[in-house]
Amino acid sequence: MKFFIDTANLDQIREAQNLGVLDGVTTNPSLMAKEGISGEENVMKHYKTICDIVDDNVSAEVISTDYEGMIAEGEKLAKIDPKIVVKVPMIKEGVRAIKYFSSKGIRTNCTLVFSAGQALLAAKAGATYVSPFVGRLDDISTDGLALIEDIRLIYDNYGYETQILAASVRHPMHIIECAKIGADVMTGPLSAITALLKHPLTDSGLAQFLADHAKAAGTQK
Ligand code: E4P
Repeated sequence: MKFFIDTANLDQIREAQNLGVLDGVTTNPSLMAKEGISGEENVMKHYKTICDIVDDNVSAEVISTDYEGMIAEGEKLAKIDPKIVVKVPMIKEGVRAIKYFSSKGIRTNCTLVFSAGQALLAAKAGATYVSPFVGRLDDISTDGLALIEDIRLIYDNYGYETQILAASVRHPMHIIECAKIGADVMTGPLSAITALLKHPLTDSGLAQFLADHAKAAGTQK
């Protein structure tokens, strides 16, 4: 399972990269705005900085909603660095744009996916990744993980190569459940990734080992 971090914050990206388990980064216009990044030049520069930190898979989202605009923007984004994956929203023009990018060998991440039908369309258009938003479905009392299960079943039925990128992951149980279902990738905040580390028996066990070691060392002449 690939781990992506869902942020545009450089310190958090560096921290996840230093942990040695990071496979990529997803951003979106809201996350860029949160970091105070605006204006085409600054946005492009920020993407380049992220690409220089991580090994691959930096999702950069188009802002245009018309076909021509998406193509122009996506081609520009893809030229920033080979690590860029063009993120395209699940709308009619987006599906056409994904088909175009796929024919040009430009990797895509189809975002804002909330139904199995949308995921099927993304796969048929040749998306590299499809991003069902688990947390946002949970927020409206709909089972986000059930959607991941449905998409896994459909993709396996037909051997679609589009990778399921479980997005809007909020906590460690989302990650574990997505891994059990067989999502190819998850993207979430640093806090969800580091929460996987934690278990009280690990902490108490380590404290005991160190105390026993110190005791033995103290009695040794
Ligand atoms: C996906 O790529 C989105 O950036 C993201 O996962 C949205 O998550 P949120 O619902 O926590 O904003």
